Amino acid sequence: MRAALVLSLLLGTLPVLSQHHHHHHDEKTEKPLGAEDMLSAPRPQAPIPSPDGHNAINVVDRWSPTDDITTRSVYILSLKSNASSSHIDLFDCHPSEASELFWISNGTIAYLNGSSLYSLPIENKVKPKFELEFPAGINAGGLKYSVSSGVLAFSAQVWADGSFDTVAHFDDVQSGQRDTGRVFDELYVRHWDIWRTPGKVWTIGTTKLGKDTQFKNVLNGTGLYSQIDPIEFDLSSTHIAISVKAPHLPPAQHTRTDIYLIPLGDTKSSPSHLTPHAHGAIGGVTFSPKGDKLAWLEMAKDGYESDKRVAVTYDLSSKRTTRWTDGWDRSPSDITWALGSDSLYFLAEHHGRILPYHLSHPDHLPTPLLFNHSTSSLATLTRHTLLLSISSMTSPADIFLLHLDQKDDGDKLPRSPLHRLTSWSKDYIDGRLDSLVIEEFWFKGAEDWDIMSWIIKPRNWQPDQISKYPLAFLIHGGPQGAWEDSWSTRWNPALFASQGYFVIAINPTGSTGYGQEFTDRIQSNWGGRPFKDLVAGYHSLLACYPEVDPQRTAALGASYGGYMINWINGHNDAFGSGFKALVCHDGIFDTLTMFYTTEEVYFPIHDLVGTPIDARATYERWNPMNHVSEWTTPQLVIHSALDYRLVDGQGFAPFTALQVQGVPSRLLWFPDENHWVLKPHNSVRWHYEVFRWLDEWVGEKPDALVIQ
Ligand SMILES: *[C@@H]1O[C@H](CO)[C@@H](O)[C@H](O)[C@H]1NC(C)=O
Ligand SMILES: *[C@@H]1O[C@H](CO)[C@@H](O)[C@H](O)[C@H]1NC(C)=O
Ligand SMILES: *[C@@H]1O[C@H](CO)[C@@H](O)[C@H](O)[C@H]1NC(C)=O
Ligand SMILES: *[C@@H]1O[C@H](CO)[C@@H](O)[C@H](O)[C@H]1NC(C)=O
Ligand SMILES: *[C@@H]1O[C@H](CO)[C@@H](O)[C@H](O)[C@H]1NC(C)=O
Repeated sequence: MRAALVLSLLLGTLPVLSQHHHHHHDEKTEKPLGAEDMLSAPRPQAPIPSPDGHNAINVVDRWSPTDDITTRSVYILSLKSNASSSHIDLFDCHPSEASELFWISNGTIAYLNGSSLYSLPIENKVKPKFELEFPAGINAGGLKYSVSSGVLAFSAQVWADGSFDTVAHFDDVQSGQRDTGRVFDELYVRHWDIWRTPGKVWTIGTTKLGKDTQFKNVLNGTGLYSQIDPIEFDLSSTHIAISVKAPHLPPAQHTRTDIYLIPLGDTKSSPSHLTPHAHGAIGGVTFSPKGDKLAWLEMAKDGYESDKRVAVTYDLSSKRTTRWTDGWDRSPSDITWALGSDSLYFLAEHHGRILPYHLSHPDHLPTPLLFNHSTSSLATLTRHTLLLSISSMTSPADIFLLHLDQKDDGDKLPRSPLHRLTSWSKDYIDGRLDSLVIEEFWFKGAEDWDIMSWIIKPRNWQPDQISKYPLAFLIHGGPQGAWEDSWSTRWNPALFASQGYFVIAINPTGSTGYGQEFTDRIQSNWGGRPFKDLVAGYHSLLACYPEVDPQRTAALGASYGGYMINWINGHNDAFGSGFKALVCHDGIFDTLTMFYTTEEVYFPIHDLVGTPIDARATYERWNPMNHVSEWTTPQLVIHSALDYRLVDGQGFAPFTALQVQGVPSRLLWFPDENHWVLKPHNSVRWHYEVFRWLDEWVGEKPDALVIQ
């Protein structure tokens, strides 16, 4: 097997993953899911309902491994009846030719093709109509359209003069310079995978569809702008509401975001500041359907990006602010108004799932509308119907209708089971993961707290077998995040199970969806409580599942999960006979240099309670680098050049530590990926190398392998 793999590498070919594992038993077996299968499955975006709720736009991207081309298909879903779904395939194109889709009337959609806006009626097959051209260089995006006023708003970039017309000129001046040096006087010189262009900022613009299109910079002269990231906003027929990071605070050290309300058409009045009180990050600003109220999600602590979000509403006429979910120990996201503008829907993580909720009144508690799997988008169609995207660990997202009943107290409950509208991945995934057994597994962790994990038993798992299966022990990043019963093309637990691994994915201390105290308890404790939880989970798993082979266990993680892998290599004795292999993707090797090189400096300042200058002991206490002389476990290190969150030095460093100590190790390096591996062929290579590493150290025993 190893020889065959080496040969295929020399020949430059990547065997499909499904050929890597061969099982002893020969009962009828399900075909395994390989990385290419997963990556070529259709990827539907959140559906966009028409103003009358009769149709929805559904954009679906499909990647073809043979020619490495992604094709975008624009579908119209008919929502009028409960009859089995009917779709119109409007057109197929390159993804850059149709983005930012929206409805300009009940029967006509619009989309951005490069920097041109086109419209297209959904009924009669006619050519798209050119609507307008955005000025060159402004990177217009985030389009929002008010059907009643005809105003189109967008986020865009401008230089210091605030004009959209001069952007191309100043871009040319800059690119005409002979040197490439950039000068910065403050932090936040880059974010995620994008560098700041000194002098160029993000603003909000408006225009009208029709003749004589003029582009107006609605923030010019207000002092409100964003350095690197587009400004989030919403549009009603009369106002724009923006949420923007406080311009007077250093952006790398703060998360504080403020909401401003700007009347359309009134050039004299300055934006009203709706959030002068102390608080942290704010997002999700949304007008009610009547335009008379705003809703947003607000955190209390500046500098803490994983604080509990609270739903807040603002009444434009009474100027009163109301807090809705202070008494609820979950963190809402994706806030959406009910059609009557009187109650709210949102999503929230709960015990390894993302569920839709309805909240009828600030004094009530939210009612869950579903109990399983994960909802990734929610839109209202009528007072009693929601349009949802739902996925699970074994099925990519599909679109569903949920019919609701309203009780006398205003709360809503599902009237009938979900009504499926699409089956996009039917021919790609369905049937490939059917045999996987998925279980929720709870155990006692640090200080006897209850810890939840997901267990996914391997493809063709058989009961009554002892020490049969190798273990993939998956550790999530964040650390404030969670393994959910949802679909992902990065770190897909079901794919590991389909490749023959018994999988455990633990949500240890710091995870989200178990109450704010559980999330907060990781602060200043990175290698403490979560590590104890993982150790306890490992031993509980082996005690409860004798089919897991304790001699063939591997741990894998990215980001904070990669931090934990580096920590585990210095503390592997806590896991009995220990992991036999480790995989560290974009991890933290040295907490000190991580602080000095990351862009969101507020994150380590919050999590490790200070900087290494004033809190050095905490950084040293939880520093994986301080235990590097204990490292003996074979480790694969993966890192990428465009990772500005945890810079690539955090990947070269553990590789050096492993190599100079003679520990079996390998480096996988991507010059063109960020903190995530997104390009499909790079993802295929990622999976190939991860499974090759696992196979080498904990995979099937060599005598059981068939050499290709
Ligand atoms: C669709 O089915 C639901 C649940 O049975 C029902 O309440 C609703 O009225 C139906 N809608 C139509 C348009 O038939
Ligand atoms: C996008 O614009 C290009 C160039 O004008 C054109 O050839 C192409 O057909 C357009 N695509 C769509 C989907 O409108
Ligand atoms: C869309 O249809 C609804 C219901 O028929 C109607 O009230 C509304 O005015 C229409 N909107 C537009 C923009 O045509
Ligand atoms: C932006 O505002 C400045 C003054 O603050 C003014 O000089 C300039 O003309 C304005 N630009 C645009 C495009 O409105
Ligand atoms: C959630 O799914 C599990 C497994 O499919 C099922 O046993 C359980 O009844 C579901 N729970 C709810 C509340 O629907």
